[in-house]
Amino acid sequence: METVVEGRAFYQGDLIECCIGIEGGKIVSIKKVLKGEKHYNYSSKLILPAAIDAHVHFRDPGLTHKEDFQTGTIAAAFGGVSCVFDMPNTLPPAISSETIKEKLDSVTKKAWIDFGLFGGCVSSFKPESIANMVIGYKLFMSSTTGVLLVPDDQSLTKIMTSVSKTGKVIGVHAEDERMIRKLPEKNLLDHDRNRPIEAEISAIEKLVSNFSENRVHICHISSTRSLKSIRGTKFTTEVTPHHLLLDNTCELGAFGKVNPPLRNRNERELLFEAFIRGKFDIIASDHAPHTIEEKEDDFDIAPCGMPGVETTVPLMLNLVRRDLIDLKTFTKCACERPAEIFGLLKGKIEVGFDGDLIVVDHKKIERIKAENLHSKCGWTAFDNYEAIFPRALFVRGMLVMEDRSIVGERIGRNVVVKGEKSQH
Ligand code: NCD
Ligand code: ZN
Ligand code: ZN
Ligand code: ZN
Repeated sequence: METVVEGRAFYQGDLIECCIGIEGGKIVSIKKVLKGEKHYNYSSKLILPAAIDAHVHFRDPGLTHKEDFQTGTIAAAFGGVSCVFDMPNTLPPAISSETIKEKLDSVTKKAWIDFGLFGGCVSSFKPESIANMVIGYKLFMSSTTGVLLVPDDQSLTKIMTSVSKTGKVIGVHAEDERMIRKLPEKNLLDHDRNRPIEAEISAIEKLVSNFSENRVHICHISSTRSLKSIRGTKFTTEVTPHHLLLDNTCELGAFGKVNPPLRNRNERELLFEAFIRGKFDIIASDHAPHTIEEKEDDFDIAPCGMPGVETTVPLMLNLVRRDLIDLKTFTKCACERPAEIFGLLKGKIEVGFDGDLIVVDHKKIERIKAENLHSKCGWTAFDNYEAIFPRALFVRGMLVMEDRSIVGERIGRNVVVKGEKSQH
């Protein structure tokens, strides 16, 4: 066997002591004893599938003073993430085959972990022309960071119909633009008031009543009331760590300004409750770095979004340690479901899947500190939170991070290979 990773692995719902054999990047055997040319023995440490973060903004090209694909993927690696899906609100926006080709050329050279790119939806575009290059499509129903157009109802229908023919998933930022107030904002309560939960529900209800059979993925859901609206559809659902752990009374100022907004404490608690009961398909960071300088500007003009790709898994692993979330729910939402929804053989320790693994020492509790993180933006909303950072990350059997250092070679690649059929 090329590579063997030994430890207490999360396999078919249980932790078992075993050897995971990897050849050509894929898991080929899981047995009590295996011999490998490279043999990594982690004895009693946990081996979990690496996470897939299906919602990041790595700002490359065009906004690389906030992040680029190198710093973004390195931050991801330290956070136990072996694959990210990058959003199209870059500069230029990733909406045509030219812009996406260019983006691919530029980011592939910088990727330390695997990735897929979302194609942005605008009124005038032809989704089939980029179908073989993107992991999925992204539609913004309201204005947020970037210039991607918010379509009118007619364009929305056209986009939904043409995207459904590609068979790919369409991720939606669901807030109803018409219900967003533009009153001046001084704090997180004002931001919540300007973009109320009702705006999220209204956008979701529009999608439910018109496109309930489409492969719609609702990004960053901020209220359990939205979850209820989705019941009975084929839609998949996403929640972020910040909506689970932070609320609009946190003293973060504009550093807590994000779309959709942080809600009140009660909403947050209900959301957390729903998450631990397995009501969400996936957890994703919505890693949206902005500079400290921008965030220190007047609250009203500071941009929306916060980083998170490096802290999602560590925060969740700490909640697993505290028995607030079970390991099954965590791996389902962070690893298995993102892979299934987007058609990848990743996110699971199972024969035939990519050898994407993390090594976790549950006794090593740390506190999150901005200066120890790797995003270019240099700040975090989770300062001083307890976390368990993975000790190692394998991407397709290759060690990328070990003992809190990047090791090996830059092997990240686009998971969308031209002509290759996904598992669906
Ligand atoms: C995101 C960004 O900055 O790109 N901001 C945010 O508040 N979430 C855009 C988005 O996902 O809406
Ligand atoms: Zn969004
Ligand atoms: Zn986003
Ligand atoms: Zn499937």
